[in-house]
Amino acid sequence: MTDLPWWKTAVVYQIYPRSYLDTDGDGVGDLEGVRRRLDHLKWLGVDALWLSPVYRSPMADFGYDVSDYCDVDPVFGDLAAADTLIGEAHDRGLKVILDWVPNHSSEQHPWFVESRSSRDNPKRDWYVWRDSAPGGGPPNNWVRSWSDQPAWTWDEATGQWYLHCFLPEQPDLNWADPGLEAAMHDVLRFWLDRGVDGFRMDVIHLIGKAPDLPDDPPELAALSHVPLNHRPETHVLLRRLRSLLDEYPGDRMAVGEVYLLETSQVVSYLGDDDELHLAFNFLSLYTPWRADRWRGLIEAIEAEHDPVGAWPTWVLSNHDNQRHRTRLGSERRARAAAVMLLTLRGTPFLYAGEEIGLEDAVIPADRVVDPGGRDGCRAPIPWDSGPSHGWPVEDPWLPWPPDAATVNVATERDDADSILHLYRRVLDARRASIALCSGELALLDGLPDGLPEGLPEGLPEGLPDGLLGYERRSGDDRRVVLINFTHSPVSIHHVATTGLTVEISSLRADAAGPFAGQLDADEAVVLRP
Ligand code: GLC
Repeated sequence: MTDLPWWKTAVVYQIYPRSYLDTDGDGVGDLEGVRRRLDHLKWLGVDALWLSPVYRSPMADFGYDVSDYCDVDPVFGDLAAADTLIGEAHDRGLKVILDWVPNHSSEQHPWFVESRSSRDNPKRDWYVWRDSAPGGGPPNNWVRSWSDQPAWTWDEATGQWYLHCFLPEQPDLNWADPGLEAAMHDVLRFWLDRGVDGFRMDVIHLIGKAPDLPDDPPELAALSHVPLNHRPETHVLLRRLRSLLDEYPGDRMAVGEVYLLETSQVVSYLGDDDELHLAFNFLSLYTPWRADRWRGLIEAIEAEHDPVGAWPTWVLSNHDNQRHRTRLGSERRARAAAVMLLTLRGTPFLYAGEEIGLEDAVIPADRVVDPGGRDGCRAPIPWDSGPSHGWPVEDPWLPWPPDAATVNVATERDDADSILHLYRRVLDARRASIALCSGELALLDGLPDGLPEGLPEGLPEGLPDGLLGYERRSGDDRRVVLINFTHSPVSIHHVATTGLTVEISSLRADAAGPFAGQLDADEAVVLRP
């Protein structure tokens, strides 16, 4: 339909492998479980899978602490299972993106074992080691994630501190060392040679650090260092990573987790189309469910991306945040949000389970396992209504999400009105419309249609309160999307909707027909000529 690179028109589906589907009975999902659901994903209509880490790991951070970047952890399978999955995904036209964790390894990685063995070990500088500050204590004031503790741990044996922006079990790698950089490039080649289509790069903005590691500003020093690290060194490293990807055929793609909350900073990591291809836009996770706030966000994202030719991304849920079904408080809102996510301009990222409207699981205190408090959104996917929900065990590594007897894939597949079928319909509509995939986006404004001339001053301009509308257009292809953020019905008579037909309603499977200017409470619609 277009000659754009695949990652501009694709819908990416994030799988948290521990929770997708277990096949060997240990209560933890595995690669074979993902393989068995490829036909389901094809049926749903997504284009690419992103797998959260499946490398060897002691699991202090559930795979984001890697002890071997070139092997699969036995809990998930082995390299042969990865090869099979990549091959069978490709057979179905699905791309495969691996999570890559370049900022830190596990403390059990042989590189770190060597690095900490002595001050003159050849890999000493592959990690960030420093002496105590003058007068004692950690070398600077950086704070690690998920606590108010220093980002440094003292190593008694060699008498220095090592840096870890996350857990002490996750020492930061030193990308200023050419040997480390080369070793990490080899990791990427290892997987590119196995056919992966790209990488989701974990906290990629952290890899370049100021050589003298200055203190964070005192007024921000209570924050973790992670959102504060914005350095020119990273751009140099990213340009070399991009050249490596570009050596491979087939548009291998890098999407970065750039955990900075200023969009202009985030976009800078796309460089001049010579760094990342895409960067996550996390503001969409934190924007309240209000038409004015979303309008502001969309305007800001368009303004930061469009002029520099950058391509936006959109996300509502992931493995680090409360699911949007839980955050928004109702399935009706989650449905409207899904229609918006899949019709905005940019690459949408879905998080497995959102398509069935999963809520976060309630985790009893004695089942909490994540040091960052994120277990709720990582609960296992219920595939059917039985007691073990399609898994080989009734009690997997985390408790089931609420209402799994009805909120599960099999039950919703049998119900054309389910949120699962809504996702499928919108994905279908998107694939069939170049305007929705890649067209321009224009927010709807202006006076409602049909008002008399010479209106008194002060009449509200724009759409009714609580309604967001935008038009997507590419050549002759055109769609209008309307989202009612309120819990009451609204009427709209807008020139952009004249003569249009309802293609999708977030609330009804059988919505087709002329648009009558009415939206139900919490309803979103896609209109077409
Ligand atoms: C990213 C990941 C998160 C992980 C952290 C450390 O933020 O998304 O899950 O804990 O990096 O690797």
